[in-house]
Amino acid sequence: MATTMMTAAGSGAAAPSGQQVVELRVARQDRPDAAVRWEEFAVPYRKGMNIISCLQAIQRNPVNKAGQATAPVVWESNCLEEVCGACTMLINGKVRQACSALVDNLIQPITLEPCHTFPVVRDLIVDRQRMFESLKHIKAWVPIDGTHDLGPGPKMNEAERQEAYVLSTCMTCGACLEACPNVNDSTPFIGAFAISQARLFNSHPTGALNAFERLEALMDEGGIAYCGNDQNCVRVCPKGIPLTDSIAEMNRQVNLYAIKSLLTK
Ligand code: SF4
Ligand code: FES
Repeated sequence: MATTMMTAAGSGAAAPSGQQVVELRVARQDRPDAAVRWEEFAVPYRKGMNIISCLQAIQRNPVNKAGQATAPVVWESNCLEEVCGACTMLINGKVRQACSALVDNLIQPITLEPCHTFPVVRDLIVDRQRMFESLKHIKAWVPIDGTHDLGPGPKMNEAERQEAYVLSTCMTCGACLEACPNVNDSTPFIGAFAISQARLFNSHPTGALNAFERLEALMDEGGIAYCGNDQNCVRVCPKGIPLTDSIAEMNRQVNLYAIKSLLTK
């Protein structure tokens, strides 16, 4: 991929003469209800830097490319190794994690925007609460209260365990929601990640005891019927989770459950 590092002389950036810089365009928003404005920055280049390093450079020296003092850009990050999902944003228009986005692989100026699917808190920070509400709705956990004294639960076979492990790597980053045309302000669709988590917990030997609750949640408003099978989710998931397989499997489980419920009425 093309790398277009520029010198301070070539870009007019406020960096020592001859210093290579990274050029960025950042969407700024001071408050949830404030208008969005774009601000340009040129930060000193270092080999191997990622987008978080660029944001840290702006934080250390909050001066824009025009040489004006400005408020430091705010963002969210935690693990710095693509595990927590907190730093997810649009980088050059593509949803991904800032901590694993290397400057050398990006065309400059690099544009940074918050995900559009979630309400913006400030600058690059969004509120992903709707995802956590969806996890609550589908009961994405294994109830263990009172089971400690019963000894170890049933073992999963290795193939099932490996399948479940991949599903368990979901980091609630929201990339699958951002890429999905069926997740927007006018639909309550919970999104691929939540359907996949229902599959994970239904596949657990103890979790399966409450499978019907998750299936009923998936049959609710905003559930699996809202999936349009666009398959964008599986293309953008940074963890390689087989989301379309999960959707197909949960469709199967939901349909079986619905038929059984009808027959036993
Ligand atoms: S399924 Fe993948 S893209 Fe969606 S929230 Fe989980 S990790 Fe992110
Ligand atoms: S900081 Fe955790 S995924 Fe980037």
